[in-house]
Amino acid sequence: MGDTDQKQRAAEAALEQVEAGTVIGVGTGSTADFFIDALARIKSKIDGAVASSEASAQRLRGHGIPVLDLNDVGELPLYVDGADEANRHLQLIKGGGGALTREKIVAAASRRFVCIAHEAKLVDVLGAFPLPVEVIPMARSYVARELVRRGGQPVLREGFVTDNGNAILDVRGLRIAEPAKLEADLNNIPGVVTNGIFALRPADLLILGTADGTRTLD
Ligand code: 5RP
Repeated sequence: MGDTDQKQRAAEAALEQVEAGTVIGVGTGSTADFFIDALARIKSKIDGAVASSEASAQRLRGHGIPVLDLNDVGELPLYVDGADEANRHLQLIKGGGGALTREKIVAAASRRFVCIAHEAKLVDVLGAFPLPVEVIPMARSYVARELVRRGGQPVLREGFVTDNGNAILDVRGLRIAEPAKLEADLNNIPGVVTNGIFALRPADLLILGTADGTRTLD
């Protein structure tokens, strides 16, 4: 219950980052859902949104917010999304909801990435949360062996298919001391679409919901 309030506080605070007359990049998950609901209150002031998942696109449309194709809008001024873990350098683990690839694309295509989360998501070292890795289905076993070779324990996310038609391996046991290095290394394994480390393009601002308000890290 406390987490829910904190997520909502972070999402509401992110609304201040929205500039009138722009298209907003919107993430995926329960915290991003609070942001979408908040965005609905100022929908007449924005030109629309680019969604990082089918689920978020549906929620945006449900509020009457136009959903645009990233290919039609060019660079976005702002992307707002949640995270599974964040460190003090604003490097993240994402993908608990399985939308990591589209999230990484929209984050990369945005000038500013504002991450919203409840306070417990802030950690000293990334990696307690199992790292999601999106894989092309035929490469699943090969990629899993490569992850084991790197000290991880991959588990197939059963019954889950990403919006891109791929599988997710959730990898436990990785203590991620050098996030950018591991992000690049894992993305070089043939068959990996992307992994849930957001360090090569970290967030620019982290808004954490707390018990009595919000605090920000930049
Ligand atoms: C989805 C994500 C989410 O941002 C992440 O899982 C956090 O979700 P929540 O806001 O529900 O805690 O990366 O792929």
